Amino acid sequence: MRVMVVGGGGREHAIVKALKKSKKVTELYVLPGNGGMEEDAVCVDIGAKDLDEIVAFALDKKIEYAVVAPDDPLVLGLVDRLNEKGIPCFGPDKKAAIIEGSKAFSKELMKKYDIPTAEYRTFSDRDAAVAYLKEKGAPIVVKADGLALGKGVVIAQTTKEAIDAVDSMMTERKFGQSGARVVIEEFLTGPEVSVLAFTDGKVVKPMVSSMDHKRALDGDKGLNTGGMGTIAPNPYYTREIAERCMKEIFLPTINAMNKEGRTFRGCLYFGLMITENGPKVIEYNCRFGDPETQVVLPLLKSDLLDVMIATTNGTLAETEVEFFDECACCVVMASAGYPASYEKGFEITLGETDGVYVAGAKKVDGKLLTSGGRVLGVTATAPTLRTAVDAAYEKVKKIEFRNAFYRRDIGRRALLAEE
Ligand code: AMP
Ligand code: GLY
Repeated sequence: MRVMVVGGGGREHAIVKALKKSKKVTELYVLPGNGGMEEDAVCVDIGAKDLDEIVAFALDKKIEYAVVAPDDPLVLGLVDRLNEKGIPCFGPDKKAAIIEGSKAFSKELMKKYDIPTAEYRTFSDRDAAVAYLKEKGAPIVVKADGLALGKGVVIAQTTKEAIDAVDSMMTERKFGQSGARVVIEEFLTGPEVSVLAFTDGKVVKPMVSSMDHKRALDGDKGLNTGGMGTIAPNPYYTREIAERCMKEIFLPTINAMNKEGRTFRGCLYFGLMITENGPKVIEYNCRFGDPETQVVLPLLKSDLLDVMIATTNGTLAETEVEFFDECACCVVMASAGYPASYEKGFEITLGETDGVYVAGAKKVDGKLLTSGGRVLGVTATAPTLRTAVDAAYEKVKKIEFRNAFYRRDIGRRALLAEE
């Protein structure tokens, strides 16, 4: 089968490596991919948001199955465009991708269908938002309605901080049109769990749970990032919690989307918080998480292509989705300074490539050079979390590039929770 993957980061590299294991894949393309993926797939220099060019490429190469990984092309409707040309895809259509594309939509959905989440209100008027903030007080959470590169959420410790956030989103339009509306919600506490789930709109088959480490520095300090590391499974996600999530959150969500005429097929990502009052939804993503994918897919035993096609065809109930009974840890190696400014263009010495997912690198004259904030995701799997964490850091030690920076405590919180 001729398969293409749209996207170019560490998540896409993990998807590519998993697809490569499928015997059915005969040709594998990645658009745009990056210099670190060339051994695993044919990288094609077309951006993930260049929908016209992507469709033209798919037709030209007679692509038989497309995997659309990032949020932007999903929300822009790439799946609809490819489907119109008869190309089946993994990922939701535009109507369903709104579950991530608009926080106002997803909050409204949860309210209407009684899916547990933080209390909230949506505003398109700045003064009304500010009046509500003053009434509720801090801590409180301000979110831009639309996509904002994972930076549209402000956890405000004071009312002033919250008002500043509203002003930067609504008045200064820091995130453009994404901030035309804001969601203001109750501040929740408790451990966070990421659950990625395959769904064909009828059944939900959750993948192994994971834990992201969003802050830049050890001890969960510093700025919010795209994610500095992950472990799987997440020890807070007990069997009991998993059963509650299926009953109270996962199935109600896909049923709600069906009732709204927005059937979701693909990978639905549930960002959960396990509060005193049970699991609640912090956010939905309409796609695989990054860097959650880099710990979840290495543990997948079943053929990824088979599972993906089952979500498209509506045959997920009959399709086996099995995981190895092991643990995984991914340490992100970034350029020092990320997520603020950083230098790039330094040569990377990789050594082994097994479990190494390249996010921000390019090939120049045969050399792999750093080209982004998050450069690599280095994953190890092992029978226990402790051994997986140790093995991931062992691998990290063997990789070199100038200004490399990584957290030293990925997995520490999970290990403490295990005890
Ligand atoms: P996001 O960018 O949407 O992934 O959100 C970033 C982070 O903000 C989440 O991972 C949570 O840690 C935090 N967060 C979002 N909503 C809330 C909330 N209502 N209460 C507490 N923390 C939250
Ligand atoms: N790791 C969080 C995300 O992919 O949004």
